[in-house]
Amino acid sequence: MRIRTEKLTKIYDSRTGSSEKTIGALDVDITLDKGETIGLFGSSGSGKSTIGQMLSGLLKPTSGKIFYDEKEISYPFRGKERRNIQILFQHPEVSFNPALPLIKSMVEPYKIFNIEYSKEILIESIQRFGLHEEHLLRKPSELSGGELQRAALSRLLTFEPEVMVLDEPTSMLDVISQGQIINMLREYQREKGASFVFISHNRTLCEMVCDRIYRVEHGCVAQETDGAASFPEKTQGVSQ
Ligand SMILES: Nc1ncnc2c1ncn2[C@@H]1O[C@H](COP(=O)(O)OP(=O)(O)OP(=O)(O)O)[C@@H](O)[C@H]1O
Ligand SMILES: [Mg+2]
Repeated sequence: MRIRTEKLTKIYDSRTGSSEKTIGALDVDITLDKGETIGLFGSSGSGKSTIGQMLSGLLKPTSGKIFYDEKEISYPFRGKERRNIQILFQHPEVSFNPALPLIKSMVEPYKIFNIEYSKEILIESIQRFGLHEEHLLRKPSELSGGELQRAALSRLLTFEPEVMVLDEPTSMLDVISQGQIINMLREYQREKGASFVFISHNRTLCEMVCDRIYRVEHGCVAQETDGAASFPEKTQGVSQ
């Protein structure tokens, strides 16, 4: 088992100072095998990104546990987990410093983890995603949403992660680019035995891409069997 969670929970405090809390995720138990793709499918605000961010060590759970190869890991991830578990953000611009040309953010992974770098290596890696040297010299706001999403994915693969949380990875792409990106991810998965958490509100896409699908509702997660998922009744008394 590559990743396993036990009762992973995130309750957000109110920003207005009221005692009302918001459930981000509640008692989430999921498993992810090596080389497997699981889907987190659910409507807007159901808790998919919250779960994805906890799984990738970027959001501190309120309670619960995460295991990586059966070893418990906790926020913030350090050492090899920090490199091995990566997230592609739903909003790709957060991966990039808005004030700087893209190239500055694209070279970061090479620097942080001492990965062999040359401009040619970088250009080759973005060309696989239909981008060119010229894109690297622009600021993030000067690229389209889809271009930025592809740049973020190219940056992410530099880490050669074992686990990738893909939060709506193709939401800004047309159907053809969507297919190309999914094929590239599959190729990477075959090569490296990587595991994916594929987050989407698109049911058809989830079914196409995932080995198993969890449905997310009001922060709770249930594995679907033949399209049915049963949720525990735990959400009373807390606003969603
Ligand atoms: N930082 C935060 N502070 C307070 N509440 C938050 C925060 N982040 C998310 N929430 C709330 O937690 C709930 C789950 O949000 P989340 O972003 O995980 O949903 P989602 O399923 O990813 O939605 P979408 O499909 O729109 O991306 C929502 O009610 C949201 O308003
Ligand atoms: Mg989301």
